[in-house]
Amino acid sequence: MSSDLISRRGFLLKAALSLAALNFGCSISKLTGDRAGNTALIYATKYGATRDTANWIRNGINREVDLLNIEDISYTGTAKDYDSFIIGSGVWIGGVHNRLLDFLTSQADMLDGKVMASFIVCGTDGGTESGKKRINSYFDQFHAPFKKMPLLSDYFGGRIIVEKLTDEDREALIKFYRTFLKSKLTSWDKTDPDKAARFGKDAARLLSKFSNERTHVIQGGSAG
Ligand SMILES: Cc1cc2nc3c(=O)[nH]c(=O)nc-3n(C[C@H](O)[C@H](O)[C@H](O)COP(=O)(O)O)c2cc1C
Repeated sequence: MSSDLISRRGFLLKAALSLAALNFGCSISKLTGDRAGNTALIYATKYGATRDTANWIRNGINREVDLLNIEDISYTGTAKDYDSFIIGSGVWIGGVHNRLLDFLTSQADMLDGKVMASFIVCGTDGGTESGKKRINSYFDQFHAPFKKMPLLSDYFGGRIIVEKLTDEDREALIKFYRTFLKSKLTSWDKTDPDKAARFGKDAARLLSKFSNERTHVIQGGSAG
């Protein structure tokens, strides 16, 4: 065998090893959850305040997170593709978004233990006893499909812009305000970007802990 051929073989072997190492490195980072976009922040909105709140939360998280509208996602693909989730919904006539509940119920097995945080956006004042009770009842409905409760949950103020409401919603709210609040329906805005960013920071801490734990489990598994 000529020395020329040996050095060609040596070169090919080295190239193959480098490729394998590169490939191995990539798969490791996929397994350990370092890959970009492995957290989904899913929101359910009708008039936009929940989308805005989700955006402020994402800014607080300050690492790559995929922001997804419940109206646009495929249920199984999304539940399978992400390692962790933060999920939020607005509240309308006493309930969270139906499509969100559909997603959580149909994907309960796949989502088990992966929903780190949940939030709702509503008009109820959480500073009073009756308000707290009402907000808890929204969370009860939201969390009913979960096998494990999210580690972090909070509520945020939303908004109403009367001119933007559908005729049906405006009529329902006018009646509600007249009958129960003894007042006229007017626009209001209780959104709170700072509170949402703080929630995002807390969620980021949980997400780092979660991806470190996953790394340890995977490394422990491959060593044994
Ligand atoms: C038709 C309608 C019904 C609502 N019902 C409730 C309710 O039952 N409880 C509550 O706390 N807030 C209620 N709100 C206030 C909303 O939660 C608030 O407007 C929130 O911003 C909605 O989220 P979105 O802007 O992302 O659609 C209602 C708002 C609308 C428009």
